[in-house]
Amino acid sequence: MTSSMWQFSKRAAALKSSAIREILKVTELPDVISFAGGLPSPNSFPIAKIKQAVDDIMDSDESFNALQYGPTEGYKPLREWVANLINQREKTHLTIDNVLIVTGSQQALDLIGKALIDEGTKVLVETPTYLGALQTFTQYEPEYVSIASDDQGLNPDQLSDEEAKSANFLYTIPNFQNPTGRRLSEERRKKLAEKAKKNNLLMIEDDPYGELDYQGHRLPSLISFAPDNTVYLGSFSKILAPGMRLGYVVGPVEFIRKLVQLKQAADLHTPSYTQHIAYQVIKDGYLGSHIPKIRELYKTRCQFMLAQLDKYMPKTVRWTKPEGGMFIWVELPEHINSTELLAKAVKSNVAFVPGETFFATNPKKNCLRLAFVTVPEERIEKGIKILADLIK
Ligand SMILES: Cc1ncc(COP(=O)(O)O)c(C=O)c1O
Repeated sequence: MTSSMWQFSKRAAALKSSAIREILKVTELPDVISFAGGLPSPNSFPIAKIKQAVDDIMDSDESFNALQYGPTEGYKPLREWVANLINQREKTHLTIDNVLIVTGSQQALDLIGKALIDEGTKVLVETPTYLGALQTFTQYEPEYVSIASDDQGLNPDQLSDEEAKSANFLYTIPNFQNPTGRRLSEERRKKLAEKAKKNNLLMIEDDPYGELDYQGHRLPSLISFAPDNTVYLGSFSKILAPGMRLGYVVGPVEFIRKLVQLKQAADLHTPSYTQHIAYQVIKDGYLGSHIPKIRELYKTRCQFMLAQLDKYMPKTVRWTKPEGGMFIWVELPEHINSTELLAKAVKSNVAFVPGETFFATNPKKNCLRLAFVTVPEERIEKGIKILADLIK
């Protein structure tokens, strides 16, 4: 077969493999100290508990359902669990009709892109933002409007009423954002929610890191301040295991119904098997003891990396000091291009993700993202020292 036999659609043809991804291919080699990947620590996977759950299901009458096709909306007990969780935490009044189980929250982003974006549709994003959201939304050709952010996250004062009115939605990650590790302050959450209500703006609140709050002190979500204006995305990837590909969307019934139609066309439903396993694992409150262990693990790694940055980086370099999550965002002096730095760093067996990929508009060239949770401490120290020497 040759490529002259077919013509890719305009959408597929427009997809480019990025130069950065090419450089990052080497990061899988064992000698490379990689701060690039956004993977959770495998030490956080509850393997014994999952094994037990599989055995329990397979030994029960549920085994047939776990291996059978299921409803597009998802496994009912799991949807109930999600509705209860959000109702208790955010004081909402959800029923299972407000909940759709998805194949990872990445799928939710794609379905939302399909549901809401036509060519030229205005989409508000914080800056920088999650690369995977930009990749999926871009397929549907939106016009991005970037809202300036600082150490407290997206700044609602920088979002004008005109922008809020003319956009079809705002995409935001209020907790320990990917890529910066920033958390939106409570005051800004309230302000943003008020602005959304005033301007009839839909907010897509993406929250895969909310539970990874090192102090266990969650701030109320946007959905608690503006439930009618918010579609909330949750994920089991960072609190159970990403290979299960399990996430959920919570939103107005009419919105969920549209996503169900789109999901049915995409994959019929999220695997019954993983939904049953996850529910078996979590139904009796297991996460209440499991999540604090992940928080502790990540907090220690984060503090260690922050200490190494303090120790080795020149004074001209700045970085975020996350209180949760998996990422630190580093700002280099203006004249340093982090993509060029990556090419040099990779030759010294260190990798990170250059910041420019995380901007929808006006990329900043002097930033980079460091992921710390999968790298052992001695390698964190070695890697940061190498990076600091290159920057100097
Ligand atoms: C902000 C954000 N949203 C969504 C996702 C996708 O997560 P999932 O594994 O649930 O598809 C990620 C993954 O890293 C992420 O960082």
